[in-house]
Amino acid sequence: MCGIVGYTGPRQAYPIIIKGLRRLEYRGYDSSGVALLDNKGGLNIYKKKGKVAELEDYTIGKDLGAQMGIGHTRWATHGEPSDNNAHPHLSLNGRLTMIHNGIIENYAQIKQELLTKGYSFTSDTDTEVLLNFIEYIQNSNNCNLEEALRIALKRVTGAYCILLIDKENPQTIIAARKGSPLVIGIGKGEHFLASDASPIIEYTKEVVYVNDYELAIINPDELILKNLGNETITPYITKLDMELAAIEKGGYDHFMLKEIFEQPSTIFDCLRGRLDAEKGSIIMSGVQEHIDQLKNAQRIIILACGTSWHAALVAEYVIEELCRIPVEVEYASEFRYRNPIINKGDIIIAVSQSGETADTLVAIEKAKEKGAFIFGVVNVVGSSIARISHAGAYTHAGPEIGVASTKAFTGQLAVLFMIGLKIAYDKGSITEDRFRKLLVELQDVPEKVEAILKNANEIKKIADKYKNATDFLFLGRGCNFPIALEGALKLKEISYIHAEGYPAAEMKHGPIALVDEELPVVFIATKDPFHEKIVSNMQEIKARKGKIISIITEGDLVSPSLSDDFFAIPAADELIAPILSIIPLQLLSYYTGVAKGIDVDKPRNLAKSVTVE
Ligand code: G6P
Repeated sequence: MCGIVGYTGPRQAYPIIIKGLRRLEYRGYDSSGVALLDNKGGLNIYKKKGKVAELEDYTIGKDLGAQMGIGHTRWATHGEPSDNNAHPHLSLNGRLTMIHNGIIENYAQIKQELLTKGYSFTSDTDTEVLLNFIEYIQNSNNCNLEEALRIALKRVTGAYCILLIDKENPQTIIAARKGSPLVIGIGKGEHFLASDASPIIEYTKEVVYVNDYELAIINPDELILKNLGNETITPYITKLDMELAAIEKGGYDHFMLKEIFEQPSTIFDCLRGRLDAEKGSIIMSGVQEHIDQLKNAQRIIILACGTSWHAALVAEYVIEELCRIPVEVEYASEFRYRNPIINKGDIIIAVSQSGETADTLVAIEKAKEKGAFIFGVVNVVGSSIARISHAGAYTHAGPEIGVASTKAFTGQLAVLFMIGLKIAYDKGSITEDRFRKLLVELQDVPEKVEAILKNANEIKKIADKYKNATDFLFLGRGCNFPIALEGALKLKEISYIHAEGYPAAEMKHGPIALVDEELPVVFIATKDPFHEKIVSNMQEIKARKGKIISIITEGDLVSPSLSDDFFAIPAADELIAPILSIIPLQLLSYYTGVAKGIDVDKPRNLAKSVTVE
């Protein structure tokens, strides 16, 4: 949460920073701000509550000429969204300016200490406390800023990525990270800093991913990387494999719509080079290199949050069915605060789009400490989770900008499915015949998704019809139960309509009390061995006059007769069906949100990358 950008070099810093902040708005949009420092030490700080567009309006006509600057887009933690609480913050003596992504957990104690030393604060943020703490240490120890920062960071607990500038050193940015991401772009006589690579790619493809407990001192011509013990580290330069077009809307009204429509190609990219249905093979080096460990696992624990957790739930059905290995799916946030039991032979799979979710990261670290083998299923290349996992497989969905996850989810399903299939094949827990059949089925998914998207307009009509509902119920069985959860989550996130997902059979244990003629009930009722059961559940809702919207398999003649509205998708094996059945639900939430006039790419209170607990 929170996005940060920095620039030092020969160009005007402001346009680079503003463009970068717009790209990082998915990380939070409660307020934004920039600090611009010119070569003579002239400092201008502009900050505004609200989205980056408000800051841009506010800066019209202001002095924006500096060639160095830092910028921040905020997801509020300490202190409400306001101009005062917006970053950058200025230290008491007016010399230091800082932006921060993360949470300083012991800020209250440090603030108390500083108050007794005569410090006062203009905001409610933990950031201003850390900044003044650095200033205080610098003054009282009479040391340089870098040393003061090192001392301060050894005292603080929590997570941070900070960019710090000093009026007396107008070309230098000092950065440090622990738990929140930082990428440094290396140009010719210039450096770019950001929370992810998207603000950087049009200027340079050479980047350095800063690690936890590292500190960077950055000038236009120089990047010095050190650890908190003041030892110099050689920066490891990585080449970015990302194109600018991937982070632009490409003619769509919203990133979310673009990302939904990209799914035939993102799923194809995910399968490409891995799955070969003709040869009957799956090549995944991360799995192959550890195949003995994986196929002999006593238990697989999948850790994730949000939509990724729903992908993990689908994987539980798939892996147990194909590999006959017990699978447990855990919310990373719960797992990390327990004393989890990890036995020899247990495998952890961490699923994350961003690869930066704080709870997932810490949960993995905890499992690692206990000796677990970590396999990461991550979308963002080079992200923290990708780097701390022992092995992994990328989802290759490309940058996902819309706050509600869509293409990353189907990518996760495809990768997890391939992992399950590969383990099962090597283990001998499925027949050659079934293996081959599922390979073909998976290979056909992009085409089937394409076919579903051709009928998107039908979903738009359904969305328009039900947009004023106050509640929705989503029901599914088996592998489609997590899809019911995901459908409900999407609708909540994007349309603000209260929605709940349930296993269809559980409906009788409570949710049925909500059913009346106003309540839309979405059944994910594709053809599978439980189809007759879910048809009975539809009957039960119909008998109570609920409105039935069903997602069905093409050719099903029974479900339409029970439904007020239905949407048919191509037939697929029950284990693969979730990758298809989620698509109409993504569209339903998108069109409902748009019909209600909601900014679907930036729904209220949410952030895409949750880097605080
Ligand atoms: C946030 C996002 C969700 C995402 C979840 C987990 O809540 O809004 O879309 O599913 O975080 O994020 P991750 O990056 O770990 O998949």
